[in-house]
Formats: sequence, C-alpha cells, structure tokens
Amino acid sequence: MARREASFICQNCGAAYGRWQGRCDACGEWNTIAEENSATARPQMPGRAPRKGRLFALEPLVGAARDAPRFATGLAEFDRVTGGGFVRGSVLLLGGDPGIGKSTLLIQVAAALARREQHVVYISGEEAVAQVRLRAERLALVGAQVGLAAETSIEDIVATLGERETPRLIIIDSIQTMWTDLVESAPGTVTQVRASAQALIRFAKRSGAAVILVGHVTKDGQIAGPRVVEHMVDAVLSFEGEGSHQFRVLRAVKNRFGPTDEIGVFEMTGGGLREIANPSELFLSERDLGSSGTAVFAGIEGSRPLLVEIQALVAPSSLGTPRRAVNGWDPNRLSMVLAVLEAHCGVRLSSHDVYLNVAGGLRIQEPAADLAAAAALVSSLADAPLPADAVYFGEISLSGAVRPVAQTAARLKEAQKLGFARAVLPEAARAEGTSELGLSLQGVGSLASLVADIAAGRRSDDAGRGTDDPRRKADAG
Ligand code: TYD
Ligand code: MG
Repeated sequence: MARREASFICQNCGAAYGRWQGRCDACGEWNTIAEENSATARPQMPGRAPRKGRLFALEPLVGAARDAPRFATGLAEFDRVTGGGFVRGSVLLLGGDPGIGKSTLLIQVAAALARREQHVVYISGEEAVAQVRLRAERLALVGAQVGLAAETSIEDIVATLGERETPRLIIIDSIQTMWTDLVESAPGTVTQVRASAQALIRFAKRSGAAVILVGHVTKDGQIAGPRVVEHMVDAVLSFEGEGSHQFRVLRAVKNRFGPTDEIGVFEMTGGGLREIANPSELFLSERDLGSSGTAVFAGIEGSRPLLVEIQALVAPSSLGTPRRAVNGWDPNRLSMVLAVLEAHCGVRLSSHDVYLNVAGGLRIQEPAADLAAAAALVSSLADAPLPADAVYFGEISLSGAVRPVAQTAARLKEAQKLGFARAVLPEAARAEGTSELGLSLQGVGSLASLVADIAAGRRSDDAGRGTDDPRRKADAG
C-alpha cells in the first residue's frame, strides 16, 4: 500500500511523495518532482518469496593485507586529490558541468594507468566508440591499452566485466545514461541512477576493481540525480572551472580514504588537460599592477600554498538595496567582513555596491582570505593601490581583531619564492614568520589599523581634496 503511494520522486534529492506537487519539501527545489513507477522501484521483484539469509564469516579487524591497497595513476594532480591514487574496490563520483572536461580528464587517467600496464575499461553511455577514439587520437593517447565500449545496460556491463580478468579501473561515463532492468523508470531518473550505482558499487566491492562514475551537475552546483549517489560512494570529486578561463580545478568534496581539502589544477589546452604543478604562477600571471582594489592572498589549499589575486570594486549605488556580488568566495563571509568594516572601522558601505572576485576563476574557502578581501575592498573605496609586492592573509573576528591562521611559514615561503617582498599578516603570527626569509613582515592587530594604513597610502593626486579619509568619502557617497 505504502509502496504504491510513493510514486512521485524528487529528481534532485530523491524524496518520495504520494502525489505531484510543485515544490519539494525536502530540498526546496521547484519542478523537480516526477512520476516514477515505484511498484518496481526496489531491487526486490514482486511475487518472489522472501529469501532465507545466507551465513557469512566474520573477519578480525587486523588482517593480512593482500596487495597494495592503492594504485597511483601517475597523473600527479589527480593522485593528489584522491589522496595518493585509487583504493581497490572503491567507487568515486566525478561531478562537473557539461563540457568542463570530465571525459577528457578520465580518458587521460585511463591512458596513464594503461601505460603502467594496468587493465582499464572505459564505458561511454554518451558517445560512440568512434568519438572516444577520436578524442584519444587528438590527445595522442591511441597507443594506450584501454578497453572501450559504448554501453548503457548495467546487466550487460556487469556480466561482461565479471566474465574476464577483473579490470583495475572501470570508468562509467556517465551514470545518468545507465539503466538496469531491476527498475522500470526511465534512464536518468533518480530511481534508475540509484539502482544502477548500487549495482556498480556491489560489483566494485565484490571484484576489487575501482570504479569512477561521471555525474552531470545542475546549474546550482548540485550533482543532479546523482546527489543521491553521493552518500553511496567512497569519494566525490568535483571538476570546476569557468567557461572563460582555461583553468580547471579538481577538488575532493568527500573522501573516505583521503583528505578533502586538496586541489589539483589543470589547464585545458588543444592537446587535452595539462597539469599545473605551480598554480600560484598561473593565478598571478595576469595581474593588473598599480590599480586600486586588488590584493594578493597567500592561501593554502590542502597541503599546498597558493597565491591568488582578490579583486574588489566598491562603487556608489543607485539602488535602494546596494548590490553585493561575489565570485569565488563565500557571500556570507563577505557580508561579515563588510559588517566589521562598518561597525569597527567606521567605513560606511551601505550606499555602495560591492563586487568581489577571485582571479582566475578559482574558488577559495579559507577564512584566512578575510584580511586580503578587506584590504582589497578598502583599497577600492579609497582608490589607494596596495603595494604590488605585498601578500595578505589573516582571519577577521567579529570584534575586528585579526586572528592568526595555520601554516604561516608555508605561506610566507611561497610568497618569497614568487618574488614578493612583504607580507601583511596577523600580529600574533609575526613571530612565526622567520626573518631569514627576507620578507618584511607587517603585523596587524586589528582591521581598523589596516584601514588607517591603506588610507594613509592614498594616491597623492587625491591628497589635497579634503577627503583623505576613506571613512568620510564613504559617508559622503
Ligand atoms: P569533455 O571532456 O567532453 O567535457 P565533459 O565530459 O565534462 O562534458 O570536454 C569538452 C570540452 O573540452 C570541449 O568544449 C572542448 C574542450 N577540449 C579542449 O579544449 N581540448 C581538448 O584536447 C579536448 C579533448 C577537449
Ligand atoms: Mg563527457
């Protein structure tokens, strides 16, 4: 009875409803609920007698590991994100916008493994074998021993793979195109995606092959449909980038076997994805020196320091509610920094539009970027360019104090390596920065003192106008 009722399923989060409605109560999405044939939505077939349980043996926690549990691909940026390579029998979901380069990345991963004499199978549900071959040809990978197939039936795939020597890695591109006989819903529906993923996960655990599932992402950044798969797999990687940029960032969103804060950086070229071993150089390559509103942030992504430029534009607003637009950073974090600037530093921004952008299409998540963002904002408002040879990092607390962040030494070292001469950092972290690095360190105790410093460094041609102070300028606007 209950099974018959729940036949409308949200295609975003998988919540089930007895009848259609416009908005999903569970995830809040509109127009995502679709009818699915749920009488057969369970792997258990109707009319079959309940099976008696099979007896199984319990294993001790400490066991002799049979084989190296991980195998690396040799693609350093990829291995970094997975935490040192694939774990046998693990299932990984690779999400990303259509056209971002998921298939390109995976054919390169497949070829890299094949070159290491590993048996790899690439199953495409979206492209014909000839198309995949064409891409491999363009990438000069044709010599690699990769087993190719264009298939969408899970039963056929599992039967074929179970028949032969188990591959090391199986790539399924994409999970949304797969379907299984066990459920009657159309391919691409949540029920099909879930059942197909389940079958592949079972195969991976049984055979010890690592499996990568490709999942397409909806516009709001959620992995559509496969969002229900996120909970089932061992790791979720997301492949990000902006259409206008050639940079692509691979990020671990979830990883049962490794860190989740590592990123891998690639550049999309005519010959496929190129690994970027030193991303700071790339992200700083197009700096606009001498203009106000930009600050270089010395960040850490995972275990690796990364310098990026933060750009801000503060302009008088003609709107009742001024705009707050942010690219590559957390909007809530921006609101907080703006509130602290208003409350503790006397900088009025309530009648100004604020735009903040992280250069290169990178997305940063560290609170350590607070200080760099604040510096860029004040610099833009006061039209006072920041010194081009300085990096900024530090977390801002609600009281306006600048708090120390982790890995000061690593940040400073990267800055020095890239030719920066000074660092503006939390006062409390100044002692940590060893002076032999040759950087001049400017400790900041509170955001207010940084604001005063930036205001003092305004362009000299503005100096005589009587609005020396950004605080007053902002009030007037
Ligand atoms: P693709 O891997 O097909 O994306 P996805 O599988 O995520 O949908 O990549 C498609 C884009 O990548 C396409 O716009 C062309 C571009 N591309 C290159 O720029 N260079 C290359 O060598 C390849 C293979 C693709
Ligand atoms: Mg593709």
